[in-house]
Amino acid sequence: SIRCQSTSTDKQKSRNLLDNASNLLTNFLSGGSIGSMPVAEGAVSDLFGRPLFFSLYDWFIEHGSVYKLAFGPKAFVVVSDPIVARHILRENIFGYDKGVLADILEPIMGKGLIPADLDTWKQRRRVIAPGFHALYLEAMTKVFTECSERAILKFEKLLEGEHLHGAETIELDLEAEFSNLALDIIGLGVFNYDFGSVTKESPVIKAVYGTLFEAEHRSTFYIPYWKVPLARWIVPRQRKFQSDLKVINDCLDGLIKNAKETRQETDVEKLQQRDYQNLKDASLLRFLVDMRGADVDDRQLRDDLMTMLIAGHETTAAVLTWAVFLLAQNPSKMKKAQAEIDSVLGQGRISFESLKKLEYIRLIVAESLRLYPQPPLLIRRSLKSDSLPGGYKGKKDGHSIPAGTDIFLSVYNLHRSPYFWDRPHEFEPERFLVPRNSDIEGWSGFDPSRSPGALYPNEIVADFAFLPFGGGPRKCVGDQFALMESTIALTMLLQKFDVELKGGPESVELVTGATIHTKNGLWCRVMKRSDLH
Ligand code: HEM
Repeated sequence: SIRCQSTSTDKQKSRNLLDNASNLLTNFLSGGSIGSMPVAEGAVSDLFGRPLFFSLYDWFIEHGSVYKLAFGPKAFVVVSDPIVARHILRENIFGYDKGVLADILEPIMGKGLIPADLDTWKQRRRVIAPGFHALYLEAMTKVFTECSERAILKFEKLLEGEHLHGAETIELDLEAEFSNLALDIIGLGVFNYDFGSVTKESPVIKAVYGTLFEAEHRSTFYIPYWKVPLARWIVPRQRKFQSDLKVINDCLDGLIKNAKETRQETDVEKLQQRDYQNLKDASLLRFLVDMRGADVDDRQLRDDLMTMLIAGHETTAAVLTWAVFLLAQNPSKMKKAQAEIDSVLGQGRISFESLKKLEYIRLIVAESLRLYPQPPLLIRRSLKSDSLPGGYKGKKDGHSIPAGTDIFLSVYNLHRSPYFWDRPHEFEPERFLVPRNSDIEGWSGFDPSRSPGALYPNEIVADFAFLPFGGGPRKCVGDQFALMESTIALTMLLQKFDVELKGGPESVELVTGATIHTKNGLWCRVMKRSDLH
């Protein structure tokens, strides 16, 4: 995805240059091999000053659900259609790879699941997916609650401090707090490492944030200068990136070595019986080492862990950030959520069982993901030529695309499509309870009964009009982990506190990298719930 920020003088200069370049390119590309597709004529300067996905949305409304965008030195096909998304993600899954995304992420994640080539992906997915067994997730409830408790305790202490000065509220950047919380959870859940970032700073934590920052920079910078020989030694930010990577890699290598050296047959037996409750270390790393023997390739394991660290950290933090942002603007919905928590838990502790009763909180999490999907775009490149199906609001008989076509599948557009959602920009968690019949050929509507037993709405229920975790075989492997984690953290926050935005909602500026986040933090006023006294 592309970050669209610059200073105003930069903006002016680049506007002139880029307008000319983009007009030339648009003309050139519209005569290209994807001939009959509508072309977004917008100047590249449209991309400055606001996140890319806003412009992609306007062009979707103007040009339909499959259009071509000439951008910089490249053209992308932008898809905002569930029927075409289903084709790319599920029906013709092996006709596509991750394209640009793999180029950006490979230096960080190596052969981890996200950027991996298809052969490696097939092999590793088979090994990793069983690690997210329902009983593992149940065991993780403890990690989710204990880490959230740390954050709650921190807020309570800060509030006590303020009380001494007569104040009833504290001002906090909740985005930063959620980021720390999600980092602690992913560390413990995936490799049993306690970053302790809610309460302290450390070189490893700094290195994780440095690496995320660089991944974002690379995904938004047009020229991959870091591939130039010696760049990693000469360019200061690249030197820093290499040293951050080394800090994390050394930490992960140490954990892998330790996991291999402490492998015990009794633990293996417990794992085989999925007896997570009686394991001291229920982490995914323990599972990967114990169940596959000590001969697992260390480098591959490290790539797997790094991938999950990056994939599961900012994404979850973003869900919590936008859930609070939305709730703070809808106090009656916040009260409704708190009433549900009071009736299910009172002031008691959340458990795996009670999670099932917290329906409204679960729908808030889903609705936050609908309005702010993470990442807002999925990226693919066709490996061979393909015929995209005729979608809705597109060309009826579809489009042919050549091998090597780069595709932006806009989840943001899909999730806010006026053709599939009523009042698409409104925050209405209740919407997921209402089935929707389809009069659209090829799309079977929204039907919660299509996925019996699922605790959260998913892509099956919405027939690919809702893709919070992607869909098809490359769907997020940590989806249930992330959903449970978010539900628990949000419940524990609302159980104790009321939250208000410090400034107006318009003061919270959006920025996109791999996720949608704020420019300057989500500054909130946090106070003890007034209705609990
Ligand atoms: C893939 C979203 C949390 C691990 C994906 C994809 C999405 C996604 C949309 C598909 C990408 C594509 O098709 O190009 C999210 C969101 C999360 C979240 C919104 C939080 C709310 C997690 C967590 C983990 C994780 C907690 C690990 C513990 C992965 C991995 C993949 C993936 C390994 C690649 C799967 C594959 O290619 O087989 N995620 N994710 N994610 N996610 Fe997540």
